[in-house]
Amino acid sequence: MPRNPELLSLIRARAGTDPVRIGLILGSGLGHIAGAVDGVAIPYGDLPGFPHAGVSGHDPNLVIGDLEGVRVAVFGGRAHYYEKGDPAAMRLPLEVLQDLGAEALIATNAAGSLDPAMPTGSIMCLSDHISFSGLNPLIGEATDARFVPMTEAYDPALRARLRAAADAEAVKMFDGVYAWFSGPSFETPAEIRAIRILGADAVGMSTVPEVILARFLGLRVAAISTVTNMAAGLSDEAISHDHTKAMAPIGAVKLEKVLRRTLREMH
Ligand code: HPA
Repeated sequence: MPRNPELLSLIRARAGTDPVRIGLILGSGLGHIAGAVDGVAIPYGDLPGFPHAGVSGHDPNLVIGDLEGVRVAVFGGRAHYYEKGDPAAMRLPLEVLQDLGAEALIATNAAGSLDPAMPTGSIMCLSDHISFSGLNPLIGEATDARFVPMTEAYDPALRARLRAAADAEAVKMFDGVYAWFSGPSFETPAEIRAIRILGADAVGMSTVPEVILARFLGLRVAAISTVTNMAAGLSDEAISHDHTKAMAPIGAVKLEKVLRRTLREMH
């Protein structure tokens, strides 16, 4: 049974009824990948209950169609916790992804690097995360399904496919732990030193709640960060959202190569 039958028929009426295989959430400055999809773009505004997704650098359309021969659903914009204080802001879009038949979600984001050896412009495949915000999108969920195991939240088989694709494309892709800070203010240098000691390699303001929700819904998950800056205190570079948007395209070129090759190899 679909969770959202009305939305599902609305989307199918515009994009066709073939099941989607993979969902992609695009992070700040990574929106151009949606343009590469041969399909239909549905503005979030046409989808009742979808988030407003009003952060600049995001493009709030759901694009459904073919990318490298695989049917994908691309979320051009995401809602962040820091917009309205709702950690479950992406629940409806992820439920819709499940209703569309997707087996997996690949989330992307822009992140700050905590590792001097992982410079701006790098990409990092998430091996795990730390929810440093302490928030959880499943608070209030009334069933035992809320007790989601997070031991292998980032699917080993999907990560292996991404790794093989990166190797085949000769793209250097780091592996690492992503720490979620709520934002919207950036972190202090002391927070960055602390989270580094705790085992994080990158820091950002998204993705973790989506990963928890996607696991709750039974989707397999992978996520890739593009490093847009060294985290607070690690370099003299000024940290800002403008900087994030300006730097994201460097990693995005690598990310797109890895994603396209991964999809091609999925036939
Ligand atoms: N911190 C948090 N979020 C980010 C950063 C950062 O340094 N860079 C891009 N998104």
